[in-house]
Amino acid sequence: MLKERVLKALSNQVNAEFYSAYLYLGMSAFADRAGYKGVANWLYVQSQEEMAHAVHIYKHILERGEAPSFADIKAPQASYDSVKEVFERVLAHEKHVSGLIDNIATIAMEERDHATYNFLAWFVAEQVEEESSAEELVSKVKLIGDNPALLYDLDTALAARTFTDPFPPAAAD
Ligand code: FEO
Repeated sequence: MLKERVLKALSNQVNAEFYSAYLYLGMSAFADRAGYKGVANWLYVQSQEEMAHAVHIYKHILERGEAPSFADIKAPQASYDSVKEVFERVLAHEKHVSGLIDNIATIAMEERDHATYNFLAWFVAEQVEEESSAEELVSKVKLIGDNPALLYDLDTALAARTFTDPFPPAAAD
């Protein structure tokens, strides 16, 4: 059983995580078409992570005996000026998501929902990591500037990122 305020906030977060997945998938498509296959890969993996976040929150809602209310997922931006703009948008978006997670944690605390508060601890820690990796990429592209050889090197490095399910079935049960 979840209090109405907590259920609403968690349902909104399911939508926000799916929107994040959609946003990063849109960025990935843009990077792919622009020839930055490594950047596209990094963003695709990022999108996969966001879907895992959405489903994890969805499962928490079900486990607590409720069903989420689903809403439309906003269409993401389709085109960007540069790889630098893409990573700046990633960073800005992750900061926004950190605020959303903090807000749900505050609601859970106010409603004395310790189970949800505890559940959200993983997301609070994850957001620190998400912001940190996006900040690192923004710093790198700023240093690279207009140097195509260095951008090529970064693109090659980002091609190595692989998806690891943060909530594998054995750990989730
Ligand atoms: Fe679901 Fe990028 O945080």
